[in-house]
Amino acid sequence: MSLQETVNATFQECFGETPAYVVRAPGRVNLLGEHVDYNDGFVLPIAIDREIWLAFSPGDTDQTTLRALDLSEQVSFTLKTLASKKDSADKDLPIWALYPAGVMWALKEAGLATPALKGAYTSNVPQGSGLSSSAAVEMAFVLAWQTLGGWKLPPMERALLGQKAENRYVGVNCGIMDQFASACGKQDRLLHLDCRSLEWHTLPLPNDVAIVIADTRMRRALTSGEYNKRRLDCEEAVRILSEKLPGIKSLRDVSVEAFNRLASQLPERVERRARHVVEEIERSVGAIPLLEKGDMVEFGRLINQCHASLRDLYEVSITELDTMVRVAQSLPGCYGARLTGAGFGGCTVNLVAREQAEAFSRALAAGYEDETGFPPEIYVCSASNGAEVI
Ligand code: GLA
Repeated sequence: MSLQETVNATFQECFGETPAYVVRAPGRVNLLGEHVDYNDGFVLPIAIDREIWLAFSPGDTDQTTLRALDLSEQVSFTLKTLASKKDSADKDLPIWALYPAGVMWALKEAGLATPALKGAYTSNVPQGSGLSSSAAVEMAFVLAWQTLGGWKLPPMERALLGQKAENRYVGVNCGIMDQFASACGKQDRLLHLDCRSLEWHTLPLPNDVAIVIADTRMRRALTSGEYNKRRLDCEEAVRILSEKLPGIKSLRDVSVEAFNRLASQLPERVERRARHVVEEIERSVGAIPLLEKGDMVEFGRLINQCHASLRDLYEVSITELDTMVRVAQSLPGCYGARLTGAGFGGCTVNLVAREQAEAFSRALAAGYEDETGFPPEIYVCSASNGAEVI
């Protein structure tokens, strides 16, 4: 059964009727520009063909009732219980429900109508895998309330509201990349976003390369603490560097050359974190002409450099991710491999010659299992469209 059929059937079971609407919203994988979105840098993600499906209808009362199929849990809340993060029985909302509730909260703050709904959803974006399962949930619910609320916003505006929900309601200080990719994805195209101006365009993905996702199945535990610490280090770097470079607003404004000149002014850890960001922004700018002319060898080299930098300077890798990357980089057909997303577990992204992608995937699975004793999950993904009502 497809996810769409599953979600329709579950809706029917729960609510005794067929759903009025179904939306899908994809996860994402980022090819280059990691941990730079909150430093006003550039990112190069795609929306992937792993997604959440949400079936919904207008609610019969003022209660919004949600069924999360994958957890076999159900929750109800109203606009009134929202601010206290409680459900209708005055119990704390479970963590999974903070995402839809956070969306309702952010929309309400923006003065947008969020009529009660009943919904059932399921997803094949694994949680905590670095593929943005939470942004996909947020984008699905923004669309659901847009459908019922009688208002209409462009995809980037919807992305910003999802980010606000996650920052202010869930409490994860993420940047805009994930919600952007889930909202604005384009089939068979790579997205290029300037996280300062929010201008974006798409770039071609050559037919003869495949994007392979390799899931270590190591799940991030509560890493928002480490994530937020990285952000603080970046802010500290800007504060110190601005004494010599007045007017800089973020690490985006610091060239590699200026950074090298001033790096000794920074505390050692802050220097390493900021060096990753400054060099990664340079890499993501340098990638554009390479992608335009289809130079996968050089683009892959930048991807490999990104992993080394995330591992050694930004320190967001773990042994299993390093193993997956090392095995991948040794295999024929692999242009580049690195961890993707926030890090601390989850997936790697691999740029591979398409005709070798199947053999690559098999050899990577075997090589990784050999070294770690755990079977990974590996699949060739394709770039999909952003969130949409079906
Ligand atoms: C998480 C955040 C994004 C981004 C990445 C790292 O996925 O949600 O905003 O910062 O980490 O690039």
